[in-house]
Amino acid sequence: MTMEPVPLNDLRRQNAAFADELSAVLARVAASGWYVLGRELEAFERMFADYCGTAHCIGVANGTDALELALRAISAQPGDEVVTVANAGMYATVAIRAVGATPSFVDIVPATYLMDTDRLPAAISRATKAIIVTHLYGRMVDMRAVLEIAARAGVPVIEDVAQAHGARRDGAHAGTLGAIGCFSFYPTKNLGAIGDGGALVTRDAALDERLRRLRQYGWATKYVATIAGGRNSRLDELQAAVLAMKLPRLNQWNRRRREVAAAYSRGITHPGIQTAGPSGEDYVAHLYVVRSRSRDALRMHLHEHGVATDVHYPVPDYAQFLYLQPRAHAALEETERAAAEVLTLPCFPEMTADEVDRVIAACNVWKG
Ligand SMILES: Cc1ncc(COP(=O)(O)O)c(C=O)c1O
Repeated sequence: MTMEPVPLNDLRRQNAAFADELSAVLARVAASGWYVLGRELEAFERMFADYCGTAHCIGVANGTDALELALRAISAQPGDEVVTVANAGMYATVAIRAVGATPSFVDIVPATYLMDTDRLPAAISRATKAIIVTHLYGRMVDMRAVLEIAARAGVPVIEDVAQAHGARRDGAHAGTLGAIGCFSFYPTKNLGAIGDGGALVTRDAALDERLRRLRQYGWATKYVATIAGGRNSRLDELQAAVLAMKLPRLNQWNRRRREVAAAYSRGITHPGIQTAGPSGEDYVAHLYVVRSRSRDALRMHLHEHGVATDVHYPVPDYAQFLYLQPRAHAALEETERAAAEVLTLPCFPEMTADEVDRVIAACNVWKG
């Protein structure tokens, strides 16, 4: 008997678990006759701000827009530098380039794949306008260290929380410690829409006001633009309603993700596979990433054993095509190594115990 492969993710399983509720939500919004910037979004923004434990939430079209609008809100512009990491899939870099600023990349800590805060001060210059930290794979950056360095330099911190909805440390939610937190609700995220979606959170009323204008042409009131840099980037009513329906389930899903991650960390004992670190509240296991010197051979072996994998991410931002120019950024040692060695295993709340066991067994029988 051939077994179904273990998928990297399967969104049908999640939605099937509350199919009737989902249908009712879709029908309600369809019947309402109001599809953009209405009551559904207002309700979700309130719920999500409360969930995060902060004052304001602003729904936008996707996570990359959230990062770009955050930079616009703090008036980042050509000539400015924004410090960030180069191993997080280009999203922050795309946003930095979109406002005409230049990224300045910091290397990562090999054990966590997060920004190496010891190296952060050296990346800050007089041109630095902001620091974007990414809570990559669902693991929270040590914000105390970042905020201290940022305060000394007098620059704001923007948090990219696209992979870390619900992560907490010392009671504080990822995204609420810097000036602005940026979320994506891309369908595979820990809290995912059934299409594109994003949001920003902030405790600062002035930033909230600016972000609300920036997401809609710079308007203060209808057809009256009062600030430059405005866009059209709105979270629509349908996505907001689906997200509001799913939000009460987020903590439970994150618990299950952590259980899967903990089972992998206990169960995978192959000496050539380095497992991910511990699963505390500050890790919501968006992705479970292992590393191996023979990553591509391991990937092929797992494929042959019916286990889907992916690589997040294979190319450092500074090595992407748009940087292949004379003054390219210097390579960063740990970022380079991670790009060559990381491998993402299936990790999602609806995985069965049998699937988790099959992934572990497939790793342990590798002859690499
Ligand atoms: C770390 C990170 N930042 C930003 C984004 C961008 O989000 P979106 O795809 O909604 O633009 C993503 C996901 O795609 C992400 O994983």
